[in-house]
Amino acid sequence: MTTRVPIVAGNWKMNKSAVEAAALLEGMLSELKAITGVERVICPPFVALAALAPRLAGSGIGLGAQTMHWEDSGAFTGEVSGLMLKGLCSHVILGHSERRAYFGETDETVNRRLHAALKHGLVPIVCVGETLAENEAGRTAEVVTRQMKGALVGLTEEQAAGLVVAYEPVWAIGTGKAATPGGANDVIGGMIRPALAELYSRALAQSIRVQYGGSVTAANAAELFAQPDIDGALVGGASLKPSEFVAIVAAARG
Ligand code: PGA
Repeated sequence: MTTRVPIVAGNWKMNKSAVEAAALLEGMLSELKAITGVERVICPPFVALAALAPRLAGSGIGLGAQTMHWEDSGAFTGEVSGLMLKGLCSHVILGHSERRAYFGETDETVNRRLHAALKHGLVPIVCVGETLAENEAGRTAEVVTRQMKGALVGLTEEQAAGLVVAYEPVWAIGTGKAATPGGANDVIGGMIRPALAELYSRALAQSIRVQYGGSVTAANAAELFAQPDIDGALVGGASLKPSEFVAIVAAARG
């Protein structure tokens, strides 16, 4: 069996100025640093990346952006490119459901962003997940398979090996209603890994880390991480609370 190092990322979304972000990080940095055996990533808003980068340098903790544009530069008002992020951060969240729902990201543009992220040496955290309506209509497999395959168009097995996937059912994000550990595990092990195995090898499908995201807290993290196919979490609300986030990361250590 492949051993996958768990990865827990904090998605701070549109919260915290650069000054506030530095203070928030300060409140958890030494404890996060002390946790071994878990890849840790902080994803603040763009404006806080430059403030956090020197504080995280040499800490072993990754720094991630929350999206990026696929072009390197040009007339794209308001956008930030992978070329700009390169050297500043290590990771980038792509295709988060909020980006898909409110800012027009699609499977096709997630795919373009993914190619650009890899070109610039950023580790992509690719988000997939079904809405409540899709879930209730029994369309989860169809939706996550389409999102996975759409995101990965044109990626070689070698490129795909560098990905992290986050399974985030939209109905569980920010609602306080996390998926059941078994339910999330079934989607990851029964739909997401099989989609990867169809595109690439079985070995690759088993080696890629797949996080769960959606109302992860210190109270439910251990049970989620005990599932065989869940390799950590993408944490929103709880990542803004230092003791809560540290406890979630610690729970991933196993
Ligand atoms: P949540 O958000 O933990 O607040 O549910 C997760 C996410 O959107 O990544």
